[in-house]
Formats: sequence, C-alpha cells, structure tokens
Amino acid sequence: MLTDNHGRNINYLRLAVTDRCNLRCFYCMPEEGLKWLQREELMTYEEMLQICSLLVKMGIEKIRITGGEPFVRKDMMQFLSALSKVSGLKELAITTNGVLTAPLVPDLKKLGVRSVNLSLDTLDANRFFAITHRDEFANVMQTLEELLRHDIEVKINAVVMDGKNTQDIIPMVEMTKDMPVSMRFIEEMPFNGEGHVYNGLKWDYIRIMDEIKEKYPDIQRLQDSPSSTSYNYHIPGHKGDVGVIAAYSRTFCGTCNRIRITPEGVLKTCLYDGGVMNIKDLIRSGASDGELQTKLLEAFGNRPKDGREAEQHRNINDPAHESMATIGG
Ligand code: GTP
Ligand code: 5AD
Ligand code: SF4
Repeated sequence: MLTDNHGRNINYLRLAVTDRCNLRCFYCMPEEGLKWLQREELMTYEEMLQICSLLVKMGIEKIRITGGEPFVRKDMMQFLSALSKVSGLKELAITTNGVLTAPLVPDLKKLGVRSVNLSLDTLDANRFFAITHRDEFANVMQTLEELLRHDIEVKINAVVMDGKNTQDIIPMVEMTKDMPVSMRFIEEMPFNGEGHVYNGLKWDYIRIMDEIKEKYPDIQRLQDSPSSTSYNYHIPGHKGDVGVIAAYSRTFCGTCNRIRITPEGVLKTCLYDGGVMNIKDLIRSGASDGELQTKLLEAFGNRPKDGREAEQHRNINDPAHESMATIGG
C-alpha cells in the first residue's frame, strides 16, 4: 500500500495521454487552441507503459486515461489494450468528450473498461456549440447511447458556468429519471489556458445543490465511496444519480488518493501544484526502475496537504495560464 506524508492511501493514477483536443471548451482552452506539444515532448506509449507497470507494482490500483481528448492520439486503442494487460491493475477508466468514442465502445468493452466519464455540459445543440466551438453534439449523444447499450457505467461531467449553461442543470437532472447515469455538476476551475478571464466562482457546489433541491425537495443524500470527488444524491424513482464536485472549493482533499502524470511526463501530486518532477526526462536519462521508485516515493512523501497549500507553493502566481488539457483534469 502506498501512503503519503498525510497518511492518505495513493491508489489512483490519472494519466493524460495528449494535450490535444477536437473541442475548444471555453473553460479549458482558447478557441485558437494551445501551443501543442511536439511529438518528442510527449511520453511515448512505451514510456507510459513502463511507468504505469512500476506504479501498479508500487500500489496503484486504478488508472484513468485523460487528456486533452485521449482518442485524438494515434493508436490509442492499441495502447489501452496493452495497458489493460498490466498485471495487478484492477481498474482501467477513461474520461472522454465523446466526439470520436461511439464506434470504439464495443472494443472498450472487450478490453474490460467498465466505466467511462463523459464530458457534456448541455443538452442543447446550440449551447453545445457556444461552449465547445464545435458542431459535435450529435456524436457525443451517440457515444452516450452506445455506452449505455454496452452496459458501461457512465458518469456525465458538466462544468457549471454562470451565463452559459445554468439553465441545463434541471433538464440534466431530469435525464436521470430514465437513464442509469451519474449526472455530476462540477465547479468551474481557473484552468482555461487564458481562454477567458476567471471572475471568481458564482456557482459553487452549495448553490448548484440548492437549485436542484428546490426543484426536487425529496432528493436523498447517498453514502459516497471513499475518496469520491463527488457528493452523491438520488431522487426517488429515478434510475440514475446526481452528484456535485466541489473542484474549486476543494472540500475533498483530506481523502485524496490520486496522482497525475501530464502528457509531457510531469508528475503532479495535486491538481493545483506546479508539477514535482519529470518522469519522461528521468526515463530518457537512463534511470532504472529502482531509481524511479526512489524518486516517486520521495515525491509521495512530500505531498501538499490540500489544493490550497499546493497553490501557495507553486512558483507561478496565476494558475489560469494553465489549461486543463495540459494537466489532464
Ligand atoms: P471517478 O474516477 O469516476 O471518481 O472520477 P473523477 O471525478 O476522479 O474523474 P473525472 O475525470 O470524471 O473528473 C471529474 C472532475 O473532477 C474534473 O473536473 C476533475 O478535474 C475534477 N477532479 C478530479 N480529481 C480532482 C482532484 O484531485 N482535485 C480537484 N480539485 N478536482 C478534481
Ligand atoms: N473546471 C472544471 N472542470 C473542468 N474540466 C475541464 N476544464 C475544467 C475547468 N476549468 C473537466 C471536464 C472533464 C474533466 C476531466 O475535467 O469537463 O470532464
Ligand atoms: Fe477538450 Fe476536455 Fe478541454 Fe473540453 S475540457 S477542450 S473536451 S480537453
């Protein structure tokens, strides 16, 4: 078992496989995109497999693939296939925007992927375009349908943005009536690659839940799994659940079980830190697994206690220059 300096078990790796994306969600990156990483700056699949195998040996049980959008990277399915065979890995999960995912769902199922988190911020095609700058709503909805048809557990992630999609909150909750999905509303974080100025948080998790509770007064609080990012609820008679993620308020740091590796191979022991070491550079300089393990353990023994502390310690004062696509969400 891997434990950090605050006694928290670390068993979950979020691996961002690319910074590129086929959408331009305004809370994540500017419309013109980012200055994309060059191929040699990215970790290769071999390097990712090496570090994943080592981390699984050290105690990581769950790996979530994120991006950018994972499926824009070439040969992603072959990589997932190899990763699914890493001995000791208990759970392989993916977070995707669903644009390219629908035709891949049968193969994901065969690989043993049991849960997919789908980013979807609205049920209205015009608002989808306004938020993502791309006309891909139909493809995302098709992905949702395919996932459900293949009995893959789906969590829908909707970032709540003042003036953009708050009118979608209730219709998206209503969707859980007939759909067995976990509908999760996320506080907007200031990681938008300077796509827009972040004016503080108007819709925190309390306001989001107040809005929902007003319409569904009999909504019930569920018992959350340990280290859950979401507070979860159920409306009697509904097939799905509702959740709220206090990603900006950072109420769940005390049970945080996760580490991140960015597409460039930077290890982050907190979403809000500036990165603690570059794994890709270590591998390329010839470090052995033993040497990597020593450095990793050192980093896990130095984790900030929460996202506020991590933010205070980073060199860059304004975290908003960073895009979620370069962090991996
Ligand atoms: P599960 O693995 O299904 O529990 O999902 P998850 O919430 O860990 O992952 P997902 O990729 O669906 O992320 C949903 C939202 O939670 C995103 O906006 C993430 O950035 C945010 N999130 C995930 N982990 C953390 C974290 O450690 N800190 C903060 N502040 N937000 C996080
Ligand atoms: N604030 C909150 N969540 C975000 N995501 C991307 N950018 C932000 C942001 N600025 C979410 C996406 C995706 C998840 C990995 O992170 O909706 O589902
Ligand atoms: Fe792409 Fe995800 Fe960022 Fe949207 S949030 S632009 S889907 S990486």
